[in-house]
Amino acid sequence: MKIGIFDSGIGGLSVLHEAYHYLPEQNYIFYADTEHVPYGLKTPEQILSYSIGITEFLLERGAEAIVVACNTATSVAIKELRKRYSIPILGMEPAVKPAVEGTDKKRIMVIATPVTIREDKLKDLLHRVDEHHRVDLLPMPRLVEFAERAEFDSEEVLDYIKKQFEPYNMEEYCALVLGCTHFNYFKPAYRQIFGDETLLIDGNHGTVKHLAEVLGIELSKAPDNVVIFDDVHKMLEQSKTEYFYSGKPITSETELEHLKILHNRLENVRKK
Ligand code: DGL
Repeated sequence: MKIGIFDSGIGGLSVLHEAYHYLPEQNYIFYADTEHVPYGLKTPEQILSYSIGITEFLLERGAEAIVVACNTATSVAIKELRKRYSIPILGMEPAVKPAVEGTDKKRIMVIATPVTIREDKLKDLLHRVDEHHRVDLLPMPRLVEFAERAEFDSEEVLDYIKKQFEPYNMEEYCALVLGCTHFNYFKPAYRQIFGDETLLIDGNHGTVKHLAEVLGIELSKAPDNVVIFDDVHKMLEQSKTEYFYSGKPITSETELEHLKILHNRLENVRKK
């Protein structure tokens, strides 16, 4: 099965990475729209038009299912994409439901892009699941920028995150929901602020599980060492993935090396 996975940038790599863990037998086309990142600061019309263009690109290359590995694009475009195309198209939304259902009493913080926070999709979700009004929403657009330049642990990153959380009393929170796929890279920084008790919840495993269900494939766990890549050739060979940046195939050793570093980062922060 050939599965297309797209995002505005390298956030979607975290979903692909989770797929390597649980659906290692599949073929993938990964598309990062690096020419247009960040989507979180674009208009809904722009995001919809990029999403349609990318979906057509992936279909032309034989994708049999598509994962919109971007909460922002999902909130704006998923309905229209499903209306236009007949293959399975899966979206992502902040994992508020498991956060609310898996905890009680204390508050839940959702971080996402400004578009995701503004759009009705998240409001509707909260209306359905946040009965006791325990959820707070906080936009963190600069994390997308930091992630795109692979700056994950700098003082500037930590200062930015601290500053955004400053108005809140961290003791009141039991869970932090990562409502943007780019935010997965910063788990060690959140840990420094929230401590070990707080749950960090992302939607990646849920998405891959859902993908398997929709496609009627069994989840099968890859050996852990397969998901740490020593070199780019091993990465390409083992993962059976074609990588694209805004329609251009990624073939240069330098770019592939960068993707390998990002995969290894994702592997290291996965269980934080
Ligand atoms: N990674 C995307 C998300 O999950 C959006 C990042 C951006 O381009 O602003 O929302």
